[in-house]
Amino acid sequence: STGKTLDTVKPEDNPKKSVINWAYIRENSAKYEAMKWADLPPIEKNFYKESSRTASMSQEEVELWRKENNNVICDDLKEGEKRCIPNPVCKFEDVFEHYPDIMANIRKVGFQKPTPIQSQAWPIILQGLDLIGIAQTGTGKTLAYLMPGFIHLTSQPISKDQRGGPGMLVLAPTRELALQVEAECLKYTYKGIKSICVYGGGDRKGQIDVVTKGVDIVIATPGRLNDLQMNNFINLKSITYLVLDEADRMLDMGFEPQIMKILIDVRPDRQTVMTSATWPDGVRRLAKSYLKNPMIVYVGTLDLAAVNTVEQRVVVIAEEEKRAFMQYFIESMKPQDKVIIFVGKKLTADDLASDLSLQGIPVQSLHGNREQWDREQALDDFKKGRVRILVATDVASRGLDVHDITHVFNFDFPRNIEEYVHRVGRTGRAGRTGEAITLVTKNNWRFASELIEILQRTDQSLLSLAVFYLADESQKRTRNLKPSTSKEKVTNMSTHRGLQKINRIYFIL
Ligand SMILES: Nc1ncnc2c1ncn2[C@@H]1O[C@H](COP(=O)(O)OP(=O)(O)OP(=O)(O)O)[C@@H](O)[C@H]1O
Ligand SMILES: [Mg+2]
Repeated sequence: STGKTLDTVKPEDNPKKSVINWAYIRENSAKYEAMKWADLPPIEKNFYKESSRTASMSQEEVELWRKENNNVICDDLKEGEKRCIPNPVCKFEDVFEHYPDIMANIRKVGFQKPTPIQSQAWPIILQGLDLIGIAQTGTGKTLAYLMPGFIHLTSQPISKDQRGGPGMLVLAPTRELALQVEAECLKYTYKGIKSICVYGGGDRKGQIDVVTKGVDIVIATPGRLNDLQMNNFINLKSITYLVLDEADRMLDMGFEPQIMKILIDVRPDRQTVMTSATWPDGVRRLAKSYLKNPMIVYVGTLDLAAVNTVEQRVVVIAEEEKRAFMQYFIESMKPQDKVIIFVGKKLTADDLASDLSLQGIPVQSLHGNREQWDREQALDDFKKGRVRILVATDVASRGLDVHDITHVFNFDFPRNIEEYVHRVGRTGRAGRTGEAITLVTKNNWRFASELIEILQRTDQSLLSLAVFYLADESQKRTRNLKPSTSKEKVTNMSTHRGLQKINRIYFIL
């Protein structure tokens, strides 16, 4: 009987043809798509007025600026004839002089000048182009997309009421990051722009109330937004400015299905901005389907590299010595030090945290199995300095901006090398310096070469000899150190010949 329906052809009538009439389906879905987006108001996208100072920069000046600002590289990813890449804006006035409220907000926080990614991203985004912005951790990517978003929102030809839903959507991979972006948004918004954070674990009814009363900016984690979308609490058709913060994380296997569902309801002629500090190959191809003729700006390198304001140290160690070494590290912390200790498992986080608590050391933990209220409390305690140690899983690896973190301690090596870069970037932000200590055991050996490459990118003097030595050591490492927690033994590790430094790699032998 199925052979008689419109979309199918009886196999016995035409054995060579596919049973499903794909051409018919495609044609209809195209018609449906067109219908779905038929009655939408036009979008205004280009608000850029180049200042005379920016316009007067010579090609040589532009190139010099790009080189001197951590090597900014721009590319037009449009097929065929390339468009002109705008000159960078060197001062805030060059781009926001027609927006005095924005200028006032910037003066209030006292920033001196735009960061490199901001200088180059703002003129591109303000022209209405899609952008992929890749720049090191802690270099102001949030404002790079928020500021043009504010201008886009408040300069549309239709009023907020006519819009019938939010105009801007920012997607972020974790609740803590979504909340932080919302806080950043609240700091700078103007003209009464209303924003809300829609995130799992948060007050769902409260979120629905705000969303249905009318809001301009939605900052969301994909899961909760999906939930509100499926239950028709939120209209996504009104969104004209879309941001995927931590884009590579958002487009990886875990999040892609949810993002795809969300984007079914977002108009295809929207403007899209993606940002991250890492941009792995697999994601590059995937991203294409979400962007239209984007430009890409990357600061430094597209290769994986950690931010150069962090001193990275690697400690090669046996699994059973890790706790003792962490203990030693904690005992040698100075009063003003603040550390995130990253672990692989929620269980380990709880375990380490309770261990320290029992010793009377104030500590908090952050991971996906804790209640939302506890997660927010933990981060707040850490931010405000009520605790100076936070034990966390990779929920804390991306985007979190706690300005006075001095150390990142990788107790367990991360699942993938991108997360290493993001973890390290929790310190050394906005021009400050920091230190990262990473424990490496033989179980992490498959990451060795990638890790060495990252170390080499920030420290050319690293001996490649050390690499071979490391690899060799790992193979013949069969020693059986007695599990030791005694303080004396631990201190010995750092002061005696046991700890050898070859540039930034230490061996506890
Ligand atoms: N132009 C500027 N001058 C000085 N500080 C700035 C400037 N722009 C942003 N900042 C500050 O720098 C810090 C880091 O910014 P932000 O969190 O946006 O970094 P990011 O690039 O998104 O990092 P990550 O990759 O870790 O997410 C913030 O505290 C922010 O307020
Ligand atoms: Mg960020």
